[in-house]
Amino acid sequence: MNNILFIKSSINGEQGKSTALAQELVSNLAATSEVKVVERDLAKQALVHLTQEEMAAWMTPANERNNEQVELANISDSLVEELKTSDTLVIAMPMYNFGVPSTFKAWVDRVARAGITFRYTENGPVGLLKNKKVVIIAARGGMYSGTTEDSQTQYLTSFFNFLGLDDIIFIYAEGLNMPGSDERFSAAQAEIKNFSL
Ligand SMILES: Cc1cc2nc3c(=O)[nH]c(=O)nc-3n(C[C@H](O)[C@H](O)[C@H](O)COP(=O)(O)O)c2cc1C
Repeated sequence: MNNILFIKSSINGEQGKSTALAQELVSNLAATSEVKVVERDLAKQALVHLTQEEMAAWMTPANERNNEQVELANISDSLVEELKTSDTLVIAMPMYNFGVPSTFKAWVDRVARAGITFRYTENGPVGLLKNKKVVIIAARGGMYSGTTEDSQTQYLTSFFNFLGLDDIIFIYAEGLNMPGSDERFSAAQAEIKNFSL
């Protein structure tokens, strides 16, 4: 059984190109192997920006948390648990203003937890997550992959490496707001069709 965590963050919901392509990938995987899929739609859930109060709630030992802290700590705890129990992350990733959607960044801020998903050592931080594959379907209006302007790929790679995950695959659907977008979308679909875990 492969536990898939399917993370979406397009503001266009199911109409989002990243969502549609990633859904095709998840459906293909489900058709050919035994999978359990957990969906996390960050555009729908729209986590608020991380606050000092929320971080303080994580730092407070569980048996000393007040009611508000129990609720606040639960936001991160449940997202971390979902991440830890997954074998494969399928991430539908739109590019918004050269980066990741702010809702995705809010998720990043909840799952990077010192002592839980990474720890500090004398030699620097060490990721505590292991043996997960990360598949990122990156949808963009323009063309950036392979250029110095693609800071999104660099950011996502650094972040997952930081957590201990280095098996990361990017599938790009680029130039979606440019002439020839249909062909490029189809090319991404073909890549997805041939993809296997
Ligand atoms: C708010 C916003 C910002 C965007 N910024 C960029 C950008 O910086 N670079 C780019 O190539 N495309 C940009 N686009 C286009 C999207 O990347 C493109 O529409 C892509 O399909 C988004 O994924 P989605 O369809 O799953 O939402 C932007 C779109 C929106 C709505």
